[in-house]
Amino acid sequence: MQAKDYLKYIAEEIHSAVFATIDKEGRPVTCAIDIMDYDENSLYFLTAKGKNFYDRLKANETIAFTAMKGKDTLSSVAVSVQGQAKEIGAEMLPALFIKNPYMEKIYPDERSRSALTVFEIYQGTGEWFDLSRHPIERASFSFGGAQQKTDGYFVTDKCIGCKLCYSKCPQKCIDITQKPVVIRQENCLHCGNCFEICPARAVERRYGGDSSCF
Ligand SMILES: Cc1cc2nc3c(=O)[nH]c(=O)nc-3n(C[C@H](O)[C@H](O)[C@H](O)COP(=O)(O)O)c2cc1C
Repeated sequence: MQAKDYLKYIAEEIHSAVFATIDKEGRPVTCAIDIMDYDENSLYFLTAKGKNFYDRLKANETIAFTAMKGKDTLSSVAVSVQGQAKEIGAEMLPALFIKNPYMEKIYPDERSRSALTVFEIYQGTGEWFDLSRHPIERASFSFGGAQQKTDGYFVTDKCIGCKLCYSKCPQKCIDITQKPVVIRQENCLHCGNCFEICPARAVERRYGGDSSCF
């Protein structure tokens, strides 16, 4: 999938997300927020100017959210995003109300909507994590010019081909038909078992920032 497909999935298939923002004391605060629309490079949400959430966004435009779809753990997809959100004002509001008609039940008339304003998540990185597949499936994406994450475990030339990593891998996502063996990044939990057990210290951990875990 391309970045835009992930943004579409978040807005149209999942829609409600749990957002993290930072309060004045530097503590993380979460709240439920709907992703109302998307385009090639951005996600859009709205809020009311009287909310503490609005104050937190104005003080610090760094946000993170996780949006989940599924009945239970093993049928769920989670998409986690870290990004920057800026206020773009009310211009987009009518279009967002047309796209999300349930909003008319919450803010029924024009006068009540005067409190609302729109934010654009204009840059971000994301992680798709699908536990409904076996082995699990994951993917990274970025939008708005942000650099994609590259974290995870990788096998170097020091590999001696002993296959101990495969024996401890919960998802059996290591291709042991070649040497060095190759970790299939799209199926890896990042549990670190391969790193721990490798007698040749051939498994390298790379850091590129991470917003998902299991
Ligand atoms: C499913 C769901 C979706 C919500 N979507 C939004 C939203 O899109 N925008 C918004 O301002 N509040 C939304 N809310 C309400 C906020 O979560 C709520 O106002 C929250 O308290 C805001 O944080 P604050 O109290 O720190 O300001 C939603 C609540 C629920 C339960």
